Amino acid sequence: MAINLFDLSNKKIVFSGATGVLGKAMSLHLASQGAELLILGRNATKINELLHEIKKQGGTASGYTCDVTDWNNVCQATEKIKSQHQSIDVLINAAGGNMPGAVVRPDQNFLDLDLASLRQVMDLNYMGTVLPIKAFLPLMLENKKGNILNISSMAATRPMTRVMGYASAKAAIDNMTKWLAVELATKHGPQFRVNAIAPGFFLTEQNRTLLTEEDGSLTKRGNQIITHTPMSRFGKPEDLLGTLQWLCSDASNFVTGTIVEVDGGFSAYSGV
Ligand SMILES: NC(=O)c1ccc[n+]([C@@H]2O[C@H](COP(=O)([O-])OP(=O)(O)OC[C@H]3O[C@@H](n4cnc5c(N)ncnc54)[C@H](O)[C@@H]3O)[C@@H](O)[C@H]2O)c1
Repeated sequence: MAINLFDLSNKKIVFSGATGVLGKAMSLHLASQGAELLILGRNATKINELLHEIKKQGGTASGYTCDVTDWNNVCQATEKIKSQHQSIDVLINAAGGNMPGAVVRPDQNFLDLDLASLRQVMDLNYMGTVLPIKAFLPLMLENKKGNILNISSMAATRPMTRVMGYASAKAAIDNMTKWLAVELATKHGPQFRVNAIAPGFFLTEQNRTLLTEEDGSLTKRGNQIITHTPMSRFGKPEDLLGTLQWLCSDASNFVTGTIVEVDGGFSAYSGV
């Protein structure tokens, strides 16, 4: 009988940021492959909408309201998941994003950077990944295996103008992904893995006005990105699904400490 290397059936996957644009496409896909989704999100209405969609397509999921930047909140969600599900297989940290206040606009310079917004963007993207890892790791250790998948960004390795805070926070995610991969494999064994996906440029609500005009044509920045992307297009959420499934499944059992770019070639292109 053929073995399905990418099998996800009955894997319990904790997923933060699942109600976002990329998170929703990813969580619907994982559920369609038989994984059980345990969704962490701030907004109960959005969680319920997603649970409804997952159940409508025959999937299994439950939701837990939780702000990933709040340690007590994260611990409460972890306790509930532990008592209801006993163990988990995968933790996906997709809650994140840029914040308008943390941007240095073209008419500003570094000295205009708003420090409170910078702290917020570091808190959401970095601490919002570290806290769930710290809270869920004991459950993985009890189960003697664990798989952590962080969501980074192209901005981590190719810092872009304007979004200094976001780029710095995602660079910290890349670094922490590698650090933790080494820490867990050397101290707890080869059954513990940590990887990240670095999406390139996906047209979503967060960046739509930055990349496109009201009539749908590209802004100067949108045009610069497309010109620098060998595949000459923005990513679509579905473009992430193959990499996602590979990293969540046992097909990637010997892969840890890796940041996989899904970017249409952006990071490989020097521009000449
Ligand atoms: N959209 C892109 O082009 C792009 C590119 C590279 C990386 N990313 C990253 O991919 C991930 C998903 O992005 P997206 O475009 O789907 O963003 P999105 O804004 O649509 O979704 C973000 C999700 O995070 C959740 N969230 C935000 N703050 C939270 C908090 N404090 N606690 C719990 N949940 C919280 C939101 O509710 C939402 O579900 C993010 O980490 C983002 O940085 C996106």
